[in-house]
Order: sequence, then C-alpha cells, then structure tokens
Amino acid sequence: MHRALRWLRNTIAAVVVLLLVAVATLYALSERIMRRTYEEPLVSVPIPTDSASIAEGERLSSIHGCRGCHAASLAGQWFEDDFWLGHIAAPNLTEAARTYSDPELVRIIRRGVRPDGRSVVVMSSDMFAPLSDTDLGKIIAYIRSVPPVAGLSRAVKLGPLARLGLVIRQYDPSAVLVRQADSVTASGYFPASGDPGAKGAYLARTACVECHGVRLEGSDFAPDLRIAAGYTREQFAHFFQTGEALGGRDLPLMSQVARSRFSHLTDEEEDALFAYLIARAVTHPISGSTP
Ligand code: HEC
Ligand code: HEC
Repeated sequence: MHRALRWLRNTIAAVVVLLLVAVATLYALSERIMRRTYEEPLVSVPIPTDSASIAEGERLSSIHGCRGCHAASLAGQWFEDDFWLGHIAAPNLTEAARTYSDPELVRIIRRGVRPDGRSVVVMSSDMFAPLSDTDLGKIIAYIRSVPPVAGLSRAVKLGPLARLGLVIRQYDPSAVLVRQADSVTASGYFPASGDPGAKGAYLARTACVECHGVRLEGSDFAPDLRIAAGYTREQFAHFFQTGEALGGRDLPLMSQVARSRFSHLTDEEEDALFAYLIARAVTHPISGSTP
C-alpha cells in the first residue's frame, strides 16, 4: 500500500479508537452518577379525602407546575425527546399513584429519591422540598383522585449531551439539588415561618426557584427576581393573570407560565408573594453571580 494511504488509515483508526474510549468513559462516569443512592427516610403526611381538599390539590398542582410537566390530564408527556439530550418522560402520574405508596410519593416529590434509593432527574424536587405536609397531602389526594388514564410510562434514557452535563455538573440529579436547597434554607436565607414575609417566601421557594434559581438570583435563562420591583401591585396582578409583562410584552416562557400556573394564585397569595419580592429587592445585596 502507498505510504500516504497507510498513514491515513492508521490515523483514522486511532481517531475512531479514541472516540470509542471517550464515549465509553462518558457512559461509565455518567452511569455511576445515575446509580448513586441517597439516604432519605420515608415520611407520612396526612392525605385528605374530602372534595374541597382534592379541588385545592388540583389548584396547587397547577401553581407548582406538576400539571405543566406531567400534562394537565396527568397522563405524562416527553420532557426531552431527542438523540442528544435523550428521551426523558415526565411520566403518567395516574400510573405512579397506583405504583407507589403515599410515603414513597412524598419521598420522590419532596426529596427526589425513588424507592430503590436512586435519584430522579429533571424534576424540580429542590422546589418541592419546602412544600408543607398540608399542601403536599392535598396534591397527592388530587393525583390519587384522578381515574387512571393511558399515557406515557416512566422512561429515562439519557443522550450523550445529558451524560456530559451530569459529568461536568452542569446538571445534577434532583436529590443533590434538594440538599443544596436544604443548605440555603438552613443558612437563614429565607424568612422563617412566623416571620413577616414567610408566606410570600414560601410561595417563591415552591413556585419560582425551578427557573429563577434556588436563591431567586436568576439562572442562565431567567432573571433575578429583584426585577419584580419594577412592577406596581396592579401591574403584577395583570402580568400574573394575563401573562402580559410591563410594556405589553409577551415573554417567550414566563408569559405562558404565568397564564398556566400563576393565574391560579388567590389575591392574598399574590399580595404575600409580591410584598416578599419587593422587600427582598430592597434588602437583598447584589451578589457577584447575578446579572
Ligand atoms: C420540570 C418538570 C417537572 C415538574 C415541575 C414536576 N415533575 Fe414530576 N417528574 C418529572 C420527570 C422528568 C420525572 C421522571 C424522573 C425520573 O424518573 O428520573 C418525574 C417523576 C415524577 C414522579 C415519579 C413517577 C414514576 O412513575 O416514577 C412523581 C410521583 C412525580 N414526578 C410527581 C410530581 C408532582 C406531584 C409534581 C408537582 C408538585 C411534579 N412531579 C412536578 C418532571 C417534573
Ligand atoms: C418554568 C420557568 C419559570 C418559572 C417557574 C417562573 N418563571 Fe419567571 N421567568 C422565567 C423566564 C424564562 C423569564 C425571562 C423571560 C422569558 O424568557 O420568558 C422570567 C421572567 C420573570 C419576570 C420578569 C418579567 C419582565 O418584566 O421581564 C418576573 C417578574 C418573573 N419572571 C416572576 C416570576 C415569579 C414571581 C415566579 C414564581 C411565582 C416565576 N417567575 C416563576 C421563567 C419562569
């Protein structure tokens, strides 16, 4: 064989081998993260059975986003469905209701930990960690009240980009994020129950951190919530009821989130949330990491 051709063949073979080794390493490292188990106790919360509590559970499931990711019917839908990120379902909750006990559901939702001790991915359990027993009990009561529908069963097949994201810690398993949320809570960052602002902070922590970050200081796609201080109470209400932001803007994600989730807030809840965001905007020091 011609020398140049041989050289080319050897180079291609070396590149292919290197690529295979890289893929195998990525797969092995990400698999190790996915197989990690987390110690979290099983906890019971009271599950009400009256129709008012179930209706309230449905409202809460809208506000906290369960009906956004898992579909309004709870039948489930794809969260990701492509080669690079993978095929990750927000699965059928009417099926989950028949698979798991109440304490198992509490642990999956609030701690991100499945019965086998492994973590869920994608689900914002860090946002649900502070949910009160009463609110979570109503949400579970509602999920259990929905008659079983055909839908999407659990499916978590990570693509190469999602695996890379886990390895370089651009993404963390939900159980890890829950522990980060715990340490923010333990640091006294949010008003404790009984303090002024506690009710508004509770709503922000359980409905906004999924996108605006665990300290509400913003993420790579949503701003620091100090931005709310640009709104009057009336403008804020208009924004949350209609999705129309200041200046008549239609925002790519937030407008739809406002309409589908936050139009379900009561006036009192909106009052508390708005007051907390304004107070926080005044007192919160500008941290280096925020825009
Ligand atoms: C950001 C999207 C998102 C939100 C919001 C969300 N989930 Fe999930 N949920 C998921 C995904 C994705 C999974 C599958 C994760 C896995 O199996 O690793 C999941 C899994 C679950 C499971 C386990 C299902 C099973 O069959 O194993 C339950 C139960 C659940 N979610 C309940 C809820 C409840 C209740 C809420 C609202 C309080 C909620 N989820 C909000 C995305 C979400
Ligand atoms: C599912 C993701 C998501 C959730 C949950 C969410 N937001 Fe947002 N929010 C965004 C994004 C993204 C933007 C930036 C605009 C856009 O791209 O839609 C935004 C922008 C905003 C803005 C700025 C509006 C403007 O005038 O530009 C405010 C105020 C706001 N959000 C308040 C909230 C509050 C309060 C909560 C909780 C009750 C919340 N958001 C929950 C994604 C979210």
